[in-house]
Amino acid sequence: MDHFNFRDGTLHAEDVPLTAVAERHGTPCYVYSRATLERHWHAFDRALAGCPHLVCYAVKANSNIAILNLLARLGSGFDIVSVGELERVLAAGGDPAKVVFSGVGKREDEIGRALDVGIRCFNVEVTEELDRLDRLAGERGVKAPVSLRVNPDVDAGTHPYISTGLRENKFGIEIEEALQQYRRAARMPNLEVAGIDCHIGSQLTSSMPFIDALDRVLALAAKLRSEGIAIRHLDLGGGLGIRYRDEDPPHPTEYAERLFARLGRHDFEILIEPGRAIAGNAGILLTRVEYLKANQAKRFAIVDAAMNDLLRPALYGAWQDIVPVAPRADAEPETFDVVGPVCETGDFLGKSRELALVPGDLLAVRSAGAYGFSMSSNYNSRPRLAEVLVDGSEMHLIRERETVAQLFAGERLLP
Ligand code: LLP
Repeated sequence: MDHFNFRDGTLHAEDVPLTAVAERHGTPCYVYSRATLERHWHAFDRALAGCPHLVCYAVKANSNIAILNLLARLGSGFDIVSVGELERVLAAGGDPAKVVFSGVGKREDEIGRALDVGIRCFNVEVTEELDRLDRLAGERGVKAPVSLRVNPDVDAGTHPYISTGLRENKFGIEIEEALQQYRRAARMPNLEVAGIDCHIGSQLTSSMPFIDALDRVLALAAKLRSEGIAIRHLDLGGGLGIRYRDEDPPHPTEYAERLFARLGRHDFEILIEPGRAIAGNAGILLTRVEYLKANQAKRFAIVDAAMNDLLRPALYGAWQDIVPVAPRADAEPETFDVVGPVCETGDFLGKSRELALVPGDLLAVRSAGAYGFSMSSNYNSRPRLAEVLVDGSEMHLIRERETVAQLFAGERLLP
């Protein structure tokens, strides 16, 4: 459930009409709802209340520091994949001791900074990363806490671009090899084995793949413990899906119940790394219709947002709902492709949508709070959008619209 609802014929974010956001901050822009974000974070936290746990929000989903700060205030941990994300968490007041660091290509400077601030755990995805970590921790006279991200070879049943737990994916260490690598890690003087990590993909709409992965992780944990390698936490990754259209993903409570049923009595701390399920339905992309255009084959609604602002439709063929902010009764619904101004045929936000529109109308692209702004680019020299966070009847500008001057401020002419 989210807090974007129609009131008096106008779509609101909490108590603020989106028309008022467009008036104050212009379009296109991203609009988020604080109540929705907090509700979703609490849903995970409560679902795991039966055991020691840490919800580590996946920063990549939406990394605006105002959002990270709101989650930090709730006590959230964070899953990061770069030093850039680490600095954002720190700037937002996040606790480094609640940060886990995932990713297949951690550079030395990134590992060094994470060691210096004392993060909670490195989720190691490449065997040589263990050697690099051991050396860098040794140089600093500290012990690096590690988990291996195991690749359990389960099919997450999601889009191939966002499925990560299959043998053919670049992620993780094959579960058969993990045992040997854990033995190696346990012998390294500057490492401290802390847990097991796995993340099998994103936008999962069933609990079964999570349970299959957990089974394999538990078998590995039992084996490691029998060899005296202490596993304190299990990090089960993120990936719980959301409803974009008619998907019916499990609620966090149901997901947690299934996990607990399989875990039985246990003394692990459970970490999870949800991103989309917290931020996805907490944001919309607000855009204005510039022109309506028809040719013999199609009608197009040309809007002021484009694939550089919201890449998911172009990259994955993802479907996101598009609704008029103030639905009109004085125009007939017609079938439109909703497209942006970027010079690519793939530049669309939605295809074949039934909409009653006139130029100047505002549209909201829903479920755009995760992997929306964070995947945006400057393609076609388009400045990145403003971001607005609504809190009850207040709206806060949490990121200024980029200016054209900023686009090439770091570029230099030859002498
Ligand atoms: N942990 C790890 C190690 C991850 O790689 C990811 C996402 C997450 C957690 C968070 O997953 P979530 O709960 O958000 O599903 N750009 C794609 C999604 C890519 C997800 C990448 N990894 C999209 O727009 O659908």
